[in-house]
Amino acid sequence: MGEYPTIPLPGYQEYPIEEMRRRLNEFYAEVSRRRTVRQFSDRPVPRDIIETALEAANTAPSGANLQPWHFVIVGGPETKKKIREAAEAEEREFYEHRASAEWLEALRPLGTDSNKPFLETAPWLIAVFLQKFGELADGRKVKHYYPTESTGLATGILITALHHAGLVTLTHTPSPMKFLNEILGRPASERPFLLLVVGYPAEDARVPDISRKQLPDFTSFIDR
Ligand SMILES: Cc1cc2nc3c(=O)[nH]c(=O)nc-3n(C[C@H](O)[C@H](O)[C@H](O)COP(=O)(O)O)c2cc1C
Repeated sequence: MGEYPTIPLPGYQEYPIEEMRRRLNEFYAEVSRRRTVRQFSDRPVPRDIIETALEAANTAPSGANLQPWHFVIVGGPETKKKIREAAEAEEREFYEHRASAEWLEALRPLGTDSNKPFLETAPWLIAVFLQKFGELADGRKVKHYYPTESTGLATGILITALHHAGLVTLTHTPSPMKFLNEILGRPASERPFLLLVVGYPAEDARVPDISRKQLPDFTSFIDR
């Protein structure tokens, strides 16, 4: 084995099994309350809250620790307006032409359409970019391993952190999203992964009445 620097595992905490159950049940109850919200309040959210949630996201594991993500945080009205206009144009194309009948059928219970006012109402938009490869200061390219898996994991932590803080999010994926590179000035080596809308829910916010699979329907245990 080659020489590489190590440190003692920092901050590991073991819990007695009963405490483990209690903590997990509490966590499960908390994440169960998370819903994707599509009606946002315009109430402001302090920038440091978003920054801390992003620090949490950045703790995600990533292929070879290359952290192949970049987050653009948009709080200004001018850029939000540009994003809304571009997203609505793509979404109109999608709903009117590109989406298959099967896809539209899957979306029907969610009641979504090409109108995206929340892109201007919500205090923050976080555009998540996946870096297909890294670029050193001298222009050389660094291969990234598993960037999709890694960015998905970071985004999951981000969504959970914001929920933990008492905020709501909408995972938005206008298709295609290339316009985000242009509006936000990101290089072609980065692929827009998704657009996270963040803020407080509107007072009259409603969500689709949907359900989750039961444990036996999405797991299998092997004991031998
Ligand atoms: C990758 C991904 C893309 C999504 N894209 C959209 C979207 O473009 N518009 C939208 O309204 N919801 C979108 N959603 C939200 C899902 O519809 C939502 O998570 C799902 O219906 C479950 O509802 P819940 O998040 O309230 O539990 C997306 C979710 C994911 C994970």
